[in-house]
Amino acid sequence: MVESRRSIRQGGAQPLTLEQLGTLLWHVARVQIHRPANPDDPRQYGSSLRPVSGGGAMHELELYLTVTRCTGLEPALYRYDPGAHELEWIAAPGAATQGLVNDAMRAAAMEIPPDVLITLAARFARMAWKYESMAYAAILKHVGVMYQQLYLVATALGLAPCALGAGDSERFAAAAGTRYHEETSVGEFALSGPPEPF
Ligand SMILES: Cc1cc2nc3c(=O)[nH]c(=O)nc-3n(C[C@H](O)[C@H](O)[C@H](O)COP(=O)(O)O)c2cc1C
Repeated sequence: MVESRRSIRQGGAQPLTLEQLGTLLWHVARVQIHRPANPDDPRQYGSSLRPVSGGGAMHELELYLTVTRCTGLEPALYRYDPGAHELEWIAAPGAATQGLVNDAMRAAAMEIPPDVLITLAARFARMAWKYESMAYAAILKHVGVMYQQLYLVATALGLAPCALGAGDSERFAAAAGTRYHEETSVGEFALSGPPEPF
């Protein structure tokens, strides 16, 4: 499976399903173990363990899903709640979400939209209080960790994954309603249902 990982920029006739999407998120981003903060011990801040590793176990990356085609799930912009393993509805499809999809298609020369555009958004303060001037570099390393986990799990599920490197963080903040300096996009990843066999 590790050997067969490739970037696949187009899915096939079968849309991604909600079950496949849920399985992918489960094996990439869910909270496996929550470690609450201890107010009496400043070294024991709130943290969690997840399938991906993360500096300080602080997991500042949030996953947002712009769904265009997924069996069992209405097209919309959602946020993945990693503690509850649930999707939180953020916005209906419209010009703002279409702008995110268009950027993704342009970045990967795609002729049709990915079934789901996964946007990785950083909650900067979650890292900055501890890592200060190193925080942004660590966040970008975490994007790489997350990309590889998304690739490997998507490959194991027989899906079509492709990392992207040209998102528009201002457009994302406007679409998702985040405050730009607190939380915005630092990576994007296209995901579609099973590709047609070569
Ligand atoms: C950080 C990163 C950014 C990438 N950005 C893009 C992109 O914007 N568009 C694209 O088509 N592929 C993108 N890719 C996929 C690479 O083009 C791809 O990994 C490379 O061509 C090797 O192919 P393979 O993944 O099939 O081994 C990106 C990959 C990484 C790791």
